[in-house]
Amino acid sequence: MRILIATASRHGSTRELGQWLGSSITKRLASSAVSATVDVRDAADVDSIAEYDAAVIGSGVYLGRWLRDARSLVAREQAELETRPVWLFSSGPIGAGLQPKTKSKWSEASWAIEHKVFGGKLDRSTLSRFERVVVRMIEAGDGDDRSRAEVDEWAGAICAALAASTPSTL
Ligand SMILES: Cc1cc2nc3c(=O)[nH]c(=O)nc-3n(C[C@H](O)[C@H](O)[C@H](O)COP(=O)(O)O)c2cc1C
Repeated sequence: MRILIATASRHGSTRELGQWLGSSITKRLASSAVSATVDVRDAADVDSIAEYDAAVIGSGVYLGRWLRDARSLVAREQAELETRPVWLFSSGPIGAGLQPKTKSKWSEASWAIEHKVFGGKLDRSTLSRFERVVVRMIEAGDGDDRSRAEVDEWAGAICAALAASTPSTL
């Protein structure tokens, strides 16, 4: 079985969530009956998901929307996504600020098994001038609300679903 984890990330924190998820899924499946290869890639580098049996797609949230690379991947591969197990995740909220509008228009995607929202990471020293203005307007402070334990727990749920639905010969 080939599993794709594709992320769109402007400042690296969602990419890192994808890497955490990838290592957790790889480790868990290695000790299960499911034989699997996990590819962790930038959404921009994924031309097609046809070669994958399952996919996890995530994006940082900016002004209430997923980044373009993740939106394009989902829009382009919609037909393929509807025929395999797919999980979505967004990364965004930090502390009390930046709470609203954390989900994309795929929040309610009926073809996705789940759309998970993880906390985000904000480091104003890495932002563009425009982004700093936006962040000041919405009074968001620096912080890292990502939880590796939460990612690991989600990886467990994904692996359990894959193990339950997949013949071990794949
Ligand atoms: C300009 C700007 C706008 C943001 N807008 C939102 C938002 O609407 N909702 C949200 O939950 N997080 C928002 N965030 C927080 C980011 O989603 C968070 O920092 C995320 O971890 C960034 O992911 P990345 O490092 O992969 O790009 C915003 C951050 C910036 C800098």
